[in-house]
Amino acid sequence: MSNDVNQALESAFAGVADNYSGREVDLYPIYKEMREKSPIIEEDFMSKLGVPNIAVPDPNRKTFTAFKYKDVMTVMKDAESFTSGFIAEGLGSFFDGLILTGMDGEQHKKMRSLLQPIFMPNVVNSWRDTKMDPIVREEFLKPLVAEGKADLMDFALYFPVRLIYSLIGFPDDKPDQIKQYAAWALAILAGPQVDPEKAQQARKAAMEASEALYHAVKKSVVEVRASGSNGNDLISRLIHAEFEGRALDDHEITTFIRSLLPAAGETTTRTFGSLMVLLLERPELLERIRNDRKLVASAIDEAVRYEPVATFKVRQASRDVELSGVKIPKGSMVQCIVSSANRDEEAFDRGSEFDIDRKVRPSFGFGFGPHMCIGQFIAKTELSVALNAILDLFPNLRLDPQQPHPKITGAQLRGPHQLPVVWDN
Ligand code: HEM
Repeated sequence: MSNDVNQALESAFAGVADNYSGREVDLYPIYKEMREKSPIIEEDFMSKLGVPNIAVPDPNRKTFTAFKYKDVMTVMKDAESFTSGFIAEGLGSFFDGLILTGMDGEQHKKMRSLLQPIFMPNVVNSWRDTKMDPIVREEFLKPLVAEGKADLMDFALYFPVRLIYSLIGFPDDKPDQIKQYAAWALAILAGPQVDPEKAQQARKAAMEASEALYHAVKKSVVEVRASGSNGNDLISRLIHAEFEGRALDDHEITTFIRSLLPAAGETTTRTFGSLMVLLLERPELLERIRNDRKLVASAIDEAVRYEPVATFKVRQASRDVELSGVKIPKGSMVQCIVSSANRDEEAFDRGSEFDIDRKVRPSFGFGFGPHMCIGQFIAKTELSVALNAILDLFPNLRLDPQQPHPKITGAQLRGPHQLPVVWDN
């Protein structure tokens, strides 16, 4: 394995972690107070915490912040009054082309209808046993078994990018290429920086990574199309996808695939980390899940509610609107605090407790409404494969008592940075 590629990947991950961490304060008690006393404020709450506003290039736009479940639900559901097009001005500038998350109205609806069938459980399940499970076990976990200890974040950093890389249809026998693609994806995510000194350099690196990734992906798309595109991979399926007689050209497929690497990598890395911390802190629960694997799915759903990796979502009012009596003028930004809404006691009984047996109710960890994560079945299946394999292969898994207790941190893109564990071997 080339050291340069390894270093590029690790420094790219550190860049993203720094960029999105924000000020280190325990936000949950603050959110609880906001829900009770000032559920909607006219303020850019996240900027105050030092989190870069990836979506809004113009800091002078009026901004409101909403903390309660019912208000976040109203905003996320009503994509006509609360639009996403502005995202194309910020993060979107790194992705000229098909950036689903920054599309609105008919354009989004048509594109989403074309793409959705590829991401449904019937397709995702066909990848579980053929690709996801063998890669996780054979490439990552079995070689670790004899060690008896590991930092699970080392595994978490690589496996989601490795899996999406394989699902896309890139060659499975090129480890340096896999890491290179991961490093590019992370450099794109580290693009928007708060610190003006870092901003220019990071933006340049993001642009370069985005371009390099584009050329690499485009080459594969052209090759797959030329060879008849008969595979069960994402590129082949995207070539065949159609809605109302419209299909995607090579440029659109390339830009969409390119956006998937950052969308699918780091989100799953951090969600896996938080899920494992929450379970390892509760050894009896982990044992219960080890003995009853039907509980894996509810543990994942509850982790996504309790510690959502994407802690807030922003929309822009397309007209004058009222939200729980607060007037929001056309053009204003609305920041929805997902981490707060997901623990709102009005929606979730004992919302501040981690309880995998709680009554099922939608949370916003994968978003909600028309833009809800298209990759959620892929993400949940990957997490389920990883947790099941760990429970099968690492007996008596527990936190390493010799190492500091892992901590879930970050005001945006939350997760642990280290996750040292030991097991019997
Ligand atoms: C645990 C892992 C993941 C989390 C927590 C997550 C979270 C989210 C969230 C919150 C949104 C909504 C964005 C918005 O409302 O503006 C979203 C959208 C999206 N996600 Fe994920 N995601 C994850 C994994 C994935 C994976 C594995 C893929 C691809 C295979 C993916 C692809 C996308 C795409 C393309 C969108 C845009 C959908 C649209 O705008 O219509 N995500 N994700």
